[in-house]
Amino acid sequence: MKMVRCRICGEVYLGSETPSHCPFCGAHREFLNPSQEYPADINDVEITGSERADLEAAIELERSNTRFYLGMAQHKAEPVLSSAYKRLSKIEAEHCELFCKLAGVDEPDDLSTPMEVADDWCGNIAESLEREKRASALYATFAERATSERLREVFAAIRDVETDHIEFDGVASAYAGCE
Ligand SMILES: [Fe+2]
Ligand SMILES: [Fe+2]
Repeated sequence: MKMVRCRICGEVYLGSETPSHCPFCGAHREFLNPSQEYPADINDVEITGSERADLEAAIELERSNTRFYLGMAQHKAEPVLSSAYKRLSKIEAEHCELFCKLAGVDEPDDLSTPMEVADDWCGNIAESLEREKRASALYATFAERATSERLREVFAAIRDVETDHIEFDGVASAYAGCE
């Protein structure tokens, strides 16, 4: 067994091999390092007013997506997709936690409250796709304009995770037999 620490979310993974993606935030393998390489002060960053505004927008986006996916996961008649979107919900909640840490604010208190969503997998997957495209584009912009090196790193890594989620929605759509 090894301890591998994610440079993006800071969570520790226990396993014999380094996974392709962080199981907690979805960051790619390049961010998964031996635990002792993680700088203790990695999230102690000075942020500008506009970076704070971007972090607040990111927190709100992740809060909404976390709750949307929890709502999708409530529809347990399709157990595989229910479980998959529960996983996405946890990943978006991890992003929310990370952005709150960087902004120095408390986490929203309704992260575990599912949003009311229709029992329509294809419609919900289509909405998920729009949410993920929006997230990926927004984080690309935030990464580009961030002046803090850490914020640039985090926004770029999470942009790639949201891009993976766009791909995942395609997989889910095929699984559900959507057009
Ligand atoms: Fe992570
Ligand atoms: Fe996502």
